[in-house]
Amino acid sequence: MENFTYYNPTKLIFGKGQVAQLEKEVPNYGKKVLLVYGGGSIKRNGLYDEVVKVLAENDSQIYELSGVEPNPRLSTVHRGIEICKAENIEFILAVGGGSVIDCTKAIAVGAKYDGDVWDIVTKKHFPTEALPFGTVLTLAATGSEMNSGSVITNWETKEKYGWGSPLTFPKFSILDPVNTFTVPKDQTVYGMVDMMTHVFEQYFHHTKNTPLQDRFCESLLKTVIETAPKLIEDLDNYELRETILYSGTIALNGQLQMGYRGDWASHNIEHAVSAVYDIPHAGGLAILFPNWMKHNLDENIARFVQLATNVFDVDPSGKDDRSIALEGISKLREFWSSIGAPSRLQDYNIDGENIELMADKAMINGEFGNFKKLNKEDVTAILTASL
Ligand code: NZQ
Ligand code: ZN
Repeated sequence: MENFTYYNPTKLIFGKGQVAQLEKEVPNYGKKVLLVYGGGSIKRNGLYDEVVKVLAENDSQIYELSGVEPNPRLSTVHRGIEICKAENIEFILAVGGGSVIDCTKAIAVGAKYDGDVWDIVTKKHFPTEALPFGTVLTLAATGSEMNSGSVITNWETKEKYGWGSPLTFPKFSILDPVNTFTVPKDQTVYGMVDMMTHVFEQYFHHTKNTPLQDRFCESLLKTVIETAPKLIEDLDNYELRETILYSGTIALNGQLQMGYRGDWASHNIEHAVSAVYDIPHAGGLAILFPNWMKHNLDENIARFVQLATNVFDVDPSGKDDRSIALEGISKLREFWSSIGAPSRLQDYNIDGENIELMADKAMINGEFGNFKKLNKEDVTAILTASL
């Protein structure tokens, strides 16, 4: 293992009926609350009313920012910052999926910065202060509810970047599986693909002696693989929703990645794709990740063999490492296709026209990826194989 420091201050409040805990949590941070949410799912499923009721009973003064887009946009972050500055907001409550939470993180630091928050997203300025915020999560996917990362899209310039700060961990996150019952089948699948890919991004490394971390990763993957086919046939099943909700948080709250560094190149490439085409994040990952795997097979084939045998139950007898590894990758592709995830960029009507543009966007900060440093040629090859 490598030396590491683990830091995660988010209070995780998990289970049925836990939205009521807002009553205890919110007053710790102030009365003027900005409620941030998306395109209306929380109004349709009743969560909005439930949250507003608890806040009102606490005499919170509620302000609202609605309409946060999937792949949240800088323009929406700007709107939120304006409200915070004009109304002296003391606390932000994000109610939604990763997009709403990521937008809230950017508002939280932007509200305490005199310049443009895009400076923070593009890492030209490192924030020194942030408004406190909490979350009520409605979609199992990103892990944003218990990490400090955020991904923001500048739609005008077609740029989408991840950023983060120790100041942007939620103070608390409330996860009630019931609040994920209304997530439609396609978004449920995307969420499961996203959390699996977060594990893969971490699993592919060259650090020696990580047996416990490997098994944490493998058991999370096996749990999602076992649960996903049942859940897509039974979207209101509390126990299946509960398993997936918990899996999504653990996949990206830092717990799996102690003592080594993950790769994260595929996320970088996907952000470039969705910056240009505005496709769902995990739809892009489902297409790209198996192609990243094939492209990097020879970097450390033992990791691919371990994944194939331990997670995808590939029988290694009589086969060489390459065949075992490739069989594992095929099984991953088959699994994702079986639950309805896309497998080609064509599934989103994306042709080869903008490959160079996407590769340039991915390369904006130079070569990237910790398992294998990718250059523009590598990125172009992975995108081309994904067409
Ligand atoms: O906007 P509403 O109406 O709420 O609808 C949303 C949205 O259309 C809907 N939804 C959410 N909860 C629902 C629901 N529909 C019915 N019932 C519910 N309970 O689902 C749609 C997608 O929501 P979104 O928040 O965009 O999905 P997700 O959580 O997958 O977030 C995706 C964003 O997170 C970024 C991605 O790049 C993308 O921008 N990521 C953030 C990460 C992080 N902060 O750590 C890591 C990830 O790798 C990822 O890059
Ligand atoms: Zn992701």
